[in-house]
Amino acid sequence: MCGIVAYVGSKPAQALLIEGLKRLEYRGYDSAGIAVMHAGRATVVKKAGRVANLEAELASRGPLAGTMGMAHTRWATHGGVTDLNAHPHRDDKAGIVVIHNGIIENYASLKTYLMDKGHRFVSETDTEVLAMLIGELYEGGEGGLEAAVQAALREVTGAYAICVMCEKEPDTLVVARKGAPLMVGIGAGEYVVASDASAIVAHTTQAFPLDDYNVVRITRNGFRTSTTTNVAVTPKVMQLELDLEQIELGRFEHFMQKEIFEQPAALRNTMRGRLQAEDGKVVLGGLSALAKQLVRSRRVILTGQGTALHAATIGEYLLEDLAKVPAHAEYASEFRYRNPIIEDQTVVVAVSQSGETADTLAALQEAKDRGALALGVVNVVGSSIARETDAGVYLRVGPEIGVASTKAFTGQVAVLALISLFLARRRYMSADQCAAMIREMQSIPGKIERVLEQDERIKKVAEKYCERENWLFLGRGYNYPTALEGALKLKEISYIHAEGMPAAEMKHGPIALINDGMPAVFIANKGRQYDKVLNNISEVRARGGHVIAVATEGDAEIGKVAEDVIYVPEIDEPLSPMVTVVPLQLIAYHAAVLRGHDVDKPRNLAKSVTVE
Ligand code: AGP
Ligand code: GLU
Repeated sequence: MCGIVAYVGSKPAQALLIEGLKRLEYRGYDSAGIAVMHAGRATVVKKAGRVANLEAELASRGPLAGTMGMAHTRWATHGGVTDLNAHPHRDDKAGIVVIHNGIIENYASLKTYLMDKGHRFVSETDTEVLAMLIGELYEGGEGGLEAAVQAALREVTGAYAICVMCEKEPDTLVVARKGAPLMVGIGAGEYVVASDASAIVAHTTQAFPLDDYNVVRITRNGFRTSTTTNVAVTPKVMQLELDLEQIELGRFEHFMQKEIFEQPAALRNTMRGRLQAEDGKVVLGGLSALAKQLVRSRRVILTGQGTALHAATIGEYLLEDLAKVPAHAEYASEFRYRNPIIEDQTVVVAVSQSGETADTLAALQEAKDRGALALGVVNVVGSSIARETDAGVYLRVGPEIGVASTKAFTGQVAVLALISLFLARRRYMSADQCAAMIREMQSIPGKIERVLEQDERIKKVAEKYCERENWLFLGRGYNYPTALEGALKLKEISYIHAEGMPAAEMKHGPIALINDGMPAVFIANKGRQYDKVLNNISEVRARGGHVIAVATEGDAEIGKVAEDVIYVPEIDEPLSPMVTVVPLQLIAYHAAVLRGHDVDKPRNLAKSVTVE
């Protein structure tokens, strides 16, 4: 929910930190701030608004001297979006400076305790309470900043990724995490700490992610990793696979546009080495050790939030349809608190692009505690969810920067299709049937390319309707979760109110919404319920609604009943969401651009929701 970057080394910190913030801004962007240590003084500059506002403020002051510092972009949870509530936050005695991603849940009781001790607060945030607590414990302790941070974190409940500096220890940076991502990049005599790899790879490809309760003390001479109870830990250093080209815009206007157009290449990556058409086999190295257990599974629970949940719902249909295993998908935020029943031989599949979504991580842990076998369908390698699962399958679609998820959605559906075929082939599906599905999977990137060639035409459809303030998205079967996804895309970047639902459900109330000219997007490609969808289209038109249909090339009927038709190549129904979603992504993208919105950083949103 925010971006954190910190540096300890011999280069001027300011420019490096601002560059890092810009790479992380997609993670949360309602305010930004920086602190640079020099000659025993930490200079703090912070502003509400985007990183550009902070840059302008810094330019007016002249460059900050110092080769150690930290910077933060905020996604506010406690306290309004103001300069004062922006991070970094200080304490009022010991020269402590803190930046924080997450929520200090017991901040109120801690604030009362600290105010009783005479501390004076200036902001409304929970983070300032952590700064004051560290200051309070620093003053009274012997072990220095590292010990004070450890002691403070033992008193805290909630989620945090933090960086801490102290003017009395001007060469030491202490970082820690619980429930929010943070990683340490190891350079030559320098260290870069950040929320994700995108702010590290420009400096080094050697890095390690912190685990929950890890505390790392860093100086120019090295680092020490321990726990909040000061037990030494040996971190697992990994090679970062990210290259900068993957996180640059290139020839595109926006990252979302780039990622929509990357989908054919991204899905080829997802499938590479995992499909053996000639043998009618799916090869998933990450699952092979558990194949026997998975084949005998009696129920699969899929869970996630937002787009990931929509993909998980398609996974539910795929698993029951292809692998004949009982499956259901549900919101992680609901699953984790509803006291779920987990019988023997239950598998839980956590679906997540970032691998850091707090609700999904908690749902996964809840299912594991109740005995489920835990699988991950995740994009970010080494992310918290990936590390928490017993096994998993990475999307391999490359970094997704746009806050609105696109290639990760089709990647998630592709991986869930692979897992379904992996199980189906070991349960009821013949080699020939599997080979046919594999060949269909292999045709998908090319079919998406044919849809992308219609971008200009789809833009015209968006132009025609982008001023309408209420839309419906409707589909049946596999197209129902796709309709949910289409509605979410439009909502989150164009701010148009859109609702997705099963096409049949419209008659049970929502049809009352239909008025003259209301856009109703139907995913109406050829499939088992095509005729029923035509009926639903007629019901909408009879009430003045304007129908935009996504239909199969060569369909001669649909044009008679829909105002606008976007044709997609024929595709087997179970695999069709990967193709039928693309027009919906483009409609949302163009509508948002036409309405003048910041497509990659929509208001109020953040790329990874690491708080509840
Ligand atoms: C998708 O467009 C949204 N930005 C959001 O719903 C996202 O899918 C959700 O927060 C889950 O994120 P995850 O896949 O990283 O877990
Ligand atoms: N809870 C802190 C605040 O509201 C941090 C939010 C964030 O993760 O950016 O300032």
